[in-house]
Amino acid sequence: MTRIKGFSSFYKTSLGEMIQGDSAEVLKARKGSTVDLIMTSPPFGLIRKKKYGNVHADVYCDWFKSFAQQFYRVLKNTGSLVIDIGGIWKNGQPTRSLYQFKLLIMLCEEIGFHLAQDLIVATTLKH
Ligand SMILES: C[S@@+](CC[C@H](N)C(=O)[O-])C[C@H]1O[C@@H](n2cnc3c(N)ncnc32)[C@H](O)[C@@H]1O
Repeated sequence: MTRIKGFSSFYKTSLGEMIQGDSAEVLKARKGSTVDLIMTSPPFGLIRKKKYGNVHADVYCDWFKSFAQQFYRVLKNTGSLVIDIGGIWKNGQPTRSLYQFKLLIMLCEEIGFHLAQDLIVATTLKH
């Protein structure tokens, strides 16, 4: 298990540890090329503001870039990044924003990731 200086564990077992904190700060404190898997469900580029803070789809890639650079730095060459992200509708229109596709292109063309798989899941509530 790799200790991260300056952060305390929220939960810990012999298999690993959970750290509660701002992931931007936790990532910066982490050694490079030490992580096998990053699985994240970041705030989406929603039109409706959430209490935990979310940026608009138009500026989403710029906001995400500093996280992406840290993801790339801490992942091993054999590591994987899995992002759970939701699509959004454009305000007042029956059409979708392309922001999550722009994010994918930025990750591959600017940061250096390779697309291994995309998975689109649509769900509905059972009535
Ligand atoms: C879309 S929600 C994910 C919800 C989660 N998948 C779930 O099912 O509960 C985004 C989450 O990211 C958290 N978050 C936002 N910015 C963060 C940051 N810089 N570091 C760590 N967590 C952050 C928010 O508090 C929120 O819980």
